[in-house]
Amino acid sequence: MAATITIEPNMQKNSPAANQSKETILQVRDLCIYYGDNQAVKHADMNIEKHGITALIGPSGCGKSTFLRSINRMNDLIPSSWNEGQIMYEGIDILAENINTIALRKEIGMVFQKPNPFPKSVYNNITHALRYYGIRKKKQLDEIVEESLRKAALWDEVKDRLHDSALSLSGGQQQRLCIARTLAMEPNVLLLDEPSSALDPISNAKIEELILQLKEDYSIIIVTHNMQQASRISDKTAFFLNGSVIEYGDTKKIFTNPDNEKTEDYISGRFG
Ligand SMILES: Nc1ncnc2c1ncn2[C@@H]1O[C@H](COP(=O)(O)OP(=O)(O)OP(=O)(O)O)[C@@H](O)[C@H]1O
Ligand SMILES: [Mg+2]
Repeated sequence: MAATITIEPNMQKNSPAANQSKETILQVRDLCIYYGDNQAVKHADMNIEKHGITALIGPSGCGKSTFLRSINRMNDLIPSSWNEGQIMYEGIDILAENINTIALRKEIGMVFQKPNPFPKSVYNNITHALRYYGIRKKKQLDEIVEESLRKAALWDEVKDRLHDSALSLSGGQQQRLCIARTLAMEPNVLLLDEPSSALDPISNAKIEELILQLKEDYSIIIVTHNMQQASRISDKTAFFLNGSVIEYGDTKKIFTNPDNEKTEDYISGRFG
């Protein structure tokens, strides 16, 4: 029987496996994802850059969210979902059965399209999971709350409202709170599934600016339907169609001189 693999942040960052790949943080190999008999992702191969922004684009239903959710095993929560292939994260196949998914989701955090703060105070939204992990000292919690809110470019707006309900914040503030909550777990990778598409243009611009800042410290994968957004903020872009990665490469090239005709048709708005 294989040994249980536990992903613990401090262990992994210094492990020999972590040093193997300087440029790449995730290697997706021949990944197929199914819901029952329906195949949603077909033989995807992709090397995801460390400290880069990778955009996933493509028409509705082409498998972007399914692909994204597989990277922190959120698909496990969907009973009909199963997969084949590998996703190597710092030398470990995170699709292996014996992976500790709770620890994995700490390392690879996710933010969804619709802001989903807990119906608790701003402060408790951030401390909820930390307390679960045994951090109980008020001073330490205070520090993490402030640091996470600063990183999420929200501190100045909420520093006097820390004990108000998170639900009293605007949609854009709620989404930045969800990002702060994820950052408090000290992840390496951030998975963002259309994080600003439900927001007004000003909040959308703030989130975009924030994502660009976060790239210094995190590896980011973002699903977006907004072509301008993808071309503005991402370093690499993957174009999905009917579950297949049709083209993956430098964002500049994908948006100016793609190799595949279907990519060209999609980015120029001919379908999707
Ligand atoms: N929970 C689920 N159960 C069954 N099938 C699903 C489930 N989620 C997605 N699918 C199917 O998998 C395929 C890919 O869906 P997915 O949500 O990954 O697409 P998407 O590219 O994110 O689309 P969108 O841009 O609309 O969000 C679709 O055919 C969809 O119907
Ligand atoms: Mg989706």
